[in-house]
Amino acid sequence: MSKIISVVGARPNFMKVAPIHKAFQKSGVNHSGINHLICHTGQHYDEKMSKIFFDDLELPYPDFYLGVGSGSHAEQTAKVMIEFEKILLQEKPEVIIVVGDVNSTIACSLVASKLNVKVVHVEAGLRSFDRTMPEEINRLLTDSISDFLFVTEKSGMTNLKKEGVNDDKIYLVGNVMIDSLVQYLPKTENSEIFNELHLGKNEYILVTLHRPSNVDSDSFLSQLISTLNNLGQKEKVIFPVHPRTKKNLAELGLNENLSKNVILTDPIGYIDFLALTKNAGLVITDSGGIQEETTFLGVQCITVRENTERPVTVEIGTNQLIGTDLKKVQEAAEKVLKGEKKCGKIPELWDGKAAERIVKVLGQKIAS
Ligand code: UD1
Repeated sequence: MSKIISVVGARPNFMKVAPIHKAFQKSGVNHSGINHLICHTGQHYDEKMSKIFFDDLELPYPDFYLGVGSGSHAEQTAKVMIEFEKILLQEKPEVIIVVGDVNSTIACSLVASKLNVKVVHVEAGLRSFDRTMPEEINRLLTDSISDFLFVTEKSGMTNLKKEGVNDDKIYLVGNVMIDSLVQYLPKTENSEIFNELHLGKNEYILVTLHRPSNVDSDSFLSQLISTLNNLGQKEKVIFPVHPRTKKNLAELGLNENLSKNVILTDPIGYIDFLALTKNAGLVITDSGGIQEETTFLGVQCITVRENTERPVTVEIGTNQLIGTDLKKVQEAAEKVLKGEKKCGKIPELWDGKAAERIVKVLGQKIAS
């Protein structure tokens, strides 16, 4: 029987691996000749950054937990590599699956490819063309050593072909993160988050910002507080704060300068956050995945970045790439609040079945 180990490390990985695991289960793991196991590197470890996602997404307890935690990029990547190598030597899987672009993604791919274990990259081919982003380096390197590259949008196919990746390694399958969204959207109806936060549906702006290029800048953070206070005069602002952003805001003493209409919360679990996204009047973010989730849901999104590796969300979705000048962000937000909304469509193959397509390909290529 072939053994496959999927890797999760950081928050945006959990909702991508969950549907893959379920698709393997559905295909009848033992009958299909594939035993699918999950390894959690522990890159994210807080209850609210990790465990709550296993519960919400009905993921089994990971088969392996590496407990690497935080550190510099080199420290974190190296720790994952050392621990993951032990797992591969002990378990001898035929294949590993990595998703997205976090440090755990490149660390595990690199270890596997040196041990001649085949690497499957899910969400391959995305490019921001900005090599100052750690995720861009992780994406480029992971793709260059992957044996199977599963792609979410057409730009990914174009990028990989330009980089010289053989056609027979690349598959346009859609978006596994949207698979989770489709599966769990009905559960958002029972979310208590609106009662907990005393919120009316469609009467708030949802904000998430955690990218180091934004939140490690003191001037960005202090301008952000005045921008949020200004927007708070028009609509309530809900801002679930990532640990990095929380630490930096606290160091600058900025959380005390917020108006009562700007509500900071701890990181929020998957179902509750999905409920908040679905019912937001506007989302302001620098996340990658949230650009896609808002496009699928037809919710207005302003992205506080100079570039995006997910261009389909701007080309056909509801996403606007505004840049990091917060005056422009405020102007764009005010336009949306006045009713100037962007119409959007759902990209091709974002239909909740991407994981099934992946498992089908792997079943044919690996188990045979
Ligand atoms: C990582 C990913 C990023 C992704 C983000 C989602 C990389 C290079 N970046 O960034 O692509 O969008 O996850 O959240 O992999 N911390 C905690 N508790 C935790 C995890 C982190 O307090 O459970 C704090 C630590 O102080 C840590 C900091 O957050 O140093 C940053 O965590 P890290 O995993 O290095 O990167 P993220 O910024 O979360």
